[in-house]
Amino acid sequence: MTLLDLDNLELTTIEDAARIVGKSVDNIRDYIQRGRISKYNLEGTRIAVAKNGELRISLSELRAFLQLMSRGDEKHYSPGLNIELGFYDLSETERTKHVHRLHPYLGKFIPQLVEWFLIRYFAEDSLILDPFMGSGTTLIQGNELGIHTIGIDVSEFNCLISRVKSTKYDLPLVTREVLEIEQRVSTFSKYLNKSTQVNLSLFPEERMDELKSSLLKECNSDYLRQWFAPNALLEMLYYKRLIPLYQNQELLQVLLSRAVRSSRLIPHYDLATPKVPLPVGVKYWCKKHNRNCIPIDNCISKIHQYSKDTIRRITQFDGLRKEKTMQVIQGDSRTIDLTYYLSLPPLNGRLLDGIFTSPPYVGQIDYHDQHTYAYELFGFTREDSLEIGPKKKGKSRSAQQSYSEGIIEVLKNTMKFLKPAGLVFIVANDKYDLYPHIAEESGLIIKERFQRAVTKRTEQGDSPYQETIFMMEKVT
Ligand SMILES: C[S@@+](CC[C@H](N)C(=O)[O-])C[C@H]1O[C@@H](n2cnc3c(N)ncnc32)[C@H](O)[C@@H]1O
Repeated sequence: MTLLDLDNLELTTIEDAARIVGKSVDNIRDYIQRGRISKYNLEGTRIAVAKNGELRISLSELRAFLQLMSRGDEKHYSPGLNIELGFYDLSETERTKHVHRLHPYLGKFIPQLVEWFLIRYFAEDSLILDPFMGSGTTLIQGNELGIHTIGIDVSEFNCLISRVKSTKYDLPLVTREVLEIEQRVSTFSKYLNKSTQVNLSLFPEERMDELKSSLLKECNSDYLRQWFAPNALLEMLYYKRLIPLYQNQELLQVLLSRAVRSSRLIPHYDLATPKVPLPVGVKYWCKKHNRNCIPIDNCISKIHQYSKDTIRRITQFDGLRKEKTMQVIQGDSRTIDLTYYLSLPPLNGRLLDGIFTSPPYVGQIDYHDQHTYAYELFGFTREDSLEIGPKKKGKSRSAQQSYSEGIIEVLKNTMKFLKPAGLVFIVANDKYDLYPHIAEESGLIIKERFQRAVTKRTEQGDSPYQETIFMMEKVT
């Protein structure tokens, strides 16, 4: 049982609470019975059974529960939850603002969550590390707040996304390049489809056949041949071939990967976790659109859709970014030596003020697998075996143990560079209660736990679960 802050709880009797919130005493008893609000004793300790006349409930907890019930978000509620951290009112557009949607990423945290903590616990000019950087949310949000950031990730593609999000661009040049390559692939696609919009005699069929076979020769991936319709495959291979002609190659790679991801032969409702490719041109029942759909058979429509969107997003972030360092490091956070990176200007050997991170959850996601299409298309090197807590290894006792050992190694390795009494924030879904042990072994004291409901996850269903944000301090 934890002793809580009595002022914040606003302890009261059931009768008073019912009168204050305009509900009946029976209503309140029902919420208690269903475990939706807690029972407390007079000292503010959560209890299972109250002595006669000593039962108290928390008005603030009750109000929070009623507020969510009135919005229909009640299923996400449980006692002790920090309602503010649920970000219930945020639209999808805000949760994927500017560069955060340059490429989808399963398992990223919402920018507003990072912002909430960084604003409260770190001053401008601080230096923060995210040793499980993923798609770089900490870097971008830290930068918006004038904080220096370093991120480490073991996956090459995640590092590419993060670099592309954090790069400072020559906007007129990027605009020219993105629109020009789009135009060239669009023309290619018209010839491919024998469109009447182009003069077919300018590009005779034999030349087209030659081009197609040379593109296909460059593709030795069975995955790409299975998961894409023939024309979609040719369009993406042609785009890829043109990339070396431009300066902003990494941005074009990410733009193409995003289009490729959406052009797989998969049901519209299953973009994040597709199981098997669908046959080309065959109808399936689409849960997302509530009608029969057919899988997409081209890539150019997504290239069109994402080209202008990409320019708009990097332009938006360009107006917000600060002149602070954002370093992206590819490597294993258990072993990487940060000495060199911290020696670079403008850091010049300073220590970290804090760590803000969201490690993988035990056995939940394979971080390389979710971007297989990009690894196959660009031939990036995979480091699956270095992932901590991958889905492939499951959630067994031994998987949990090796997960804990991995996280402890990361914390010990990176905390060598953390200031004395520096703060470490870890966003975790700690259903196996591993973090108290992890903290102790790593030389950290848990100062506070913030509970938040995770709702409206992009492409991850809507079943409620909760996360804990552990605020820890380095033992000095
Ligand atoms: C939950 S995700 C982080 C998501 C990130 N917060 C975001 O908003 O995009 C965890 C990340 O840890 C990375 N990871 C797993 N094992 C690692 C290791 N040994 N060293 C560095 N990164 C690792 C995965 O590749 C994955 O990108």
